[in-house]
Amino acid sequence: MVPYALLRPLLFRLDAETAHDLTIAGLSRFSCLLPRTTPVAGPPIRVMGLDFPNRVGLAAGLDKNGEAIDGLGRLGFGHLEVGTVTPRPQAGNPKPRLFRLIGERALINRMGFNNGGVDALLAHLERASYRGILGINIGKNADTPLDHAAEDYLACLERVFPHASYVTVNISSPNTRDLRKLQDSAQLEALLSQLKARQAELTQRHGRYVPLALKIAPDLDASGIGAIADALRRHRIDAVIATNTTVARDGLAQLAEARQPGGLSGAPLFERATAVLTLLAGALAGEIPLIAVGGVDSGAAAAAKIAAGAQLVQLYTGLIFRGPELVRECIAATR
Ligand SMILES: Cc1cc2nc3c(=O)[nH]c(=O)nc-3n(C[C@H](O)[C@H](O)[C@H](O)COP(=O)(O)O)c2cc1C
Repeated sequence: MVPYALLRPLLFRLDAETAHDLTIAGLSRFSCLLPRTTPVAGPPIRVMGLDFPNRVGLAAGLDKNGEAIDGLGRLGFGHLEVGTVTPRPQAGNPKPRLFRLIGERALINRMGFNNGGVDALLAHLERASYRGILGINIGKNADTPLDHAAEDYLACLERVFPHASYVTVNISSPNTRDLRKLQDSAQLEALLSQLKARQAELTQRHGRYVPLALKIAPDLDASGIGAIADALRRHRIDAVIATNTTVARDGLAQLAEARQPGGLSGAPLFERATAVLTLLAGALAGEIPLIAVGGVDSGAAAAAKIAAGAQLVQLYTGLIFRGPELVRECIAATR
């Protein structure tokens, strides 16, 4: 296999989305050529009632359509999260919509849930041979009005339920207009109660409980985080994923590229995402498991997320800059 240190300069010569599409196509078509990095052995980590072989997973958004899970599954991850998927296919925002901030080891994206729709995702999963833990991340179509958003989440939940190890409810992307308003108390209350009721029905129908995780934004203040923690507890949500990308540009004000609208991820997000994680850990006091994501680009950063109270860690932007070596390093640092 070509080492990532050699591949990266070639990929970075291409525009960021072309490089991404080529990587997904390569992982999808040539997965059998990749050596299998088996997850590091050790006692499994039980989270949401599932046994994870290690603490490190792939964050949502890299494989939105579940096209490359056989290739990604060979990189050693203890779980993969695919999506965000919406009920109907949609093109997302106009290109260009993905930008590298190389010196900052960061990305800005305003993809806008470009995806082939839930049926296309399920068709890909059916053809795959990956049998590890699979999270499916669900969202709403851009043209669904906010007061009908719950219908989109429920439609996706129905379809993905029999195929997912857990389902993530994404209400925190900054790139779908008003999506984050679903984090406000009244909206969240209505959404979570409908999702929990449908989860109970589907559990009966399929004879299997599929946990629900809520993915939140890093751009919440302490009282917003407290209110969400309260709702998570009352509705018995199975886990919280903190965090999605940020609309803030802390410390990047001087940088012209940082003015691109969209969600910032990677190293500059680490502190903000970890601060949210710490507040959540305090508010939830171990009652609901935490999955940490945001700016993990070293084993030490992954270990810091666990020290802040997370049970699991997910990676996205760090992988673009460091390649698969990062997965092994994070697994070793969080054993
Ligand atoms: C290009 C790109 C697309 C993303 N798409 C999604 C998505 O569809 N759903 C989602 O929940 N998060 C999405 N994310 C957010 C990541 O899952 C993650 O929460 C965020 O990037 C912070 O982690 P990182 O700093 O390790 O990248 C996306 C991130 C990037 C960079």
